Amino acid sequence: MCGIVAGVAKREVSEILLEGLRRLEYRGYDSAGMALIDNDRNLQLHKALGKVAELEAAQAQQPIIGCVGIAHTRWATHGEPSTANAHPHTASDRYAVVHNGIIENHTVLREDLERGGVSFLSQTDTEVIVHLIDQLRPSHTDLLSTVQSVVNKLDGAYALAVIDREEPQSLVVARQGSPLVLGVGIGEMFAGSDTLALRSVTDRFVYLEDGDIGCLSVGDYALYDRAGEPISRQVVHLEPPKTEDVLADYAHYMLKEIHEQPQRLMDTVQAENLTAEQFGPEAAEIFLKTRAIQIIACGTSYHAGLVAKYWIEEFAQIPCSVEVASEIRYRIPVIVDGTLIISISQSGETADTLAAINHLGSAGIARLAICNVDHSAIVRASELVYLTQAGPEIGVASTKAFTTQLAALLVLTAALMQTNNQQSRLKEFEEAIANLPLAVEAVIDLEPKIKQLANHFVTKHHALFLGRGVFYPISMEGALKLKEISYIHAEAYPAGELKHGPLALVDEDMPVVAVAPNNGLLEKLRSNLEEVRARGGELFVFADEESGFETGPGVHVLAMPHSHILTAPITYTVALQLLSYYVAVARGTDVDKPRNLAKSVTVE
Ligand code: M6R
Repeated sequence: MCGIVAGVAKREVSEILLEGLRRLEYRGYDSAGMALIDNDRNLQLHKALGKVAELEAAQAQQPIIGCVGIAHTRWATHGEPSTANAHPHTASDRYAVVHNGIIENHTVLREDLERGGVSFLSQTDTEVIVHLIDQLRPSHTDLLSTVQSVVNKLDGAYALAVIDREEPQSLVVARQGSPLVLGVGIGEMFAGSDTLALRSVTDRFVYLEDGDIGCLSVGDYALYDRAGEPISRQVVHLEPPKTEDVLADYAHYMLKEIHEQPQRLMDTVQAENLTAEQFGPEAAEIFLKTRAIQIIACGTSYHAGLVAKYWIEEFAQIPCSVEVASEIRYRIPVIVDGTLIISISQSGETADTLAAINHLGSAGIARLAICNVDHSAIVRASELVYLTQAGPEIGVASTKAFTTQLAALLVLTAALMQTNNQQSRLKEFEEAIANLPLAVEAVIDLEPKIKQLANHFVTKHHALFLGRGVFYPISMEGALKLKEISYIHAEAYPAGELKHGPLALVDEDMPVVAVAPNNGLLEKLRSNLEEVRARGGELFVFADEESGFETGPGVHVLAMPHSHILTAPITYTVALQLLSYYVAVARGTDVDKPRNLAKSVTVE
């Protein structure tokens, strides 16, 4: 999704902006651009379709330099990926704007501006902003007050950074609904879509809130609320990240992140610490009063929520609903007294999840965030927090973030069991969690075998994933992984549903992946798989080594090391991650940056 980097300093900032864009590449984008005010007060611009490397090449060929500038990676929403639609957008060779978000009333604003004689150069919603600034600037004293007026005309979401060549010692930023953080340097100021973008220049950050507008200058900054009143926000000092986001010897970040999981799981959960206190000082009291749970999330994080529903209802005996955030945010669900709202998010900035939290939150309703990024918007919007310790996840396809979410949700289940007097099976949780890192290591050891299985998928166009019980959402996650990085159409079904429709799809061209741990549903699953074989479907069974499944004609079995049934959703996930990874590698796709996708989905 779009990324913003901006800076004002005594030194030249073009390289800092480019470095920031490189660090934001993981978010996903299709074009990039940068604008600087040079020493002669000229607005200088480079834009490039494709990768940041193209922008770097343009900069190497014809350097633009300056001490104040803005830069952007664009993920197309309005208008195709093109140089014309890439940001920054400019007006009168004087103003330049970069934007993340969606201006919902851009059509009306564009028509008004066009009636007034403005010509547009792009199809973007963003371009209205820079023309509005151009139009309103003469009736205002400075850029800051102009931007304050302009944002009052905008409906929708935005993070903005704006420069004016007539004010070459400052830049203006604004935030509503899309993330923006300030980086406080020594004698210099920066802004970025996330802290990772600015880690090379500072470790002190100010997280902007919705409605905030700021003016940054060398060594100083001033913040204002929507009404134009001065405000102050806390400066947060961040420790260096625990894991380096360098590839080391791995071919892709996704593979590196799959391999990191034993350690990240160990960092996220301690078997001896399955208590409510892990979720914050008020958690024990809130959990005691919890009568129902509503989980909200998107994508992979939603799948973690679906797994948690099985655990929370079975072990803690608390009713639990799970819904995708983009749906629940636009309806009126019944939220009974004593409901705990749980959001799950890797990035902590997902626009739909954040909006759903705000939509459901009301006086007396407690919110818990399970999140991988401290100080993120979702964490800041929640009373209770459990931080997963996945470390920065660079691959767009979520791997270690998902398994650490599941681990955190096991801790939550154990904590709720204790506050809800259901602790008889607590010991089992402790044992399963203590063994988890080793159990995941054992699955990673199967990598060569999984790589071989992957070869069977290379020429396929479709795949079905089957699971039962808690392994149904795991099969959904397996299907999502395969489709997002290999572009093979994949769907998951609860195996018992097969004969109610999807069985019609099964033939020799439809590989069927089954998740078959040794649990109470194994025999039911076995019958479902017989139905597939009887129709000529080729089976790929990820089966517990003690399950009795054997490789034979049309049946490929991966014998999974026996793992505790509580943590098997995590171990089977790791095997499915490796399957998708090797299918994608064999098909030659861009594994870490799959087409059309963004890592941090900050627009709805
Ligand atoms: O950052 P979040 O966990 O809130 O993101 C939610 C989804 O966008 C994310 O899980 C997405 O589905 C991943 N690309 C899946 O691999």
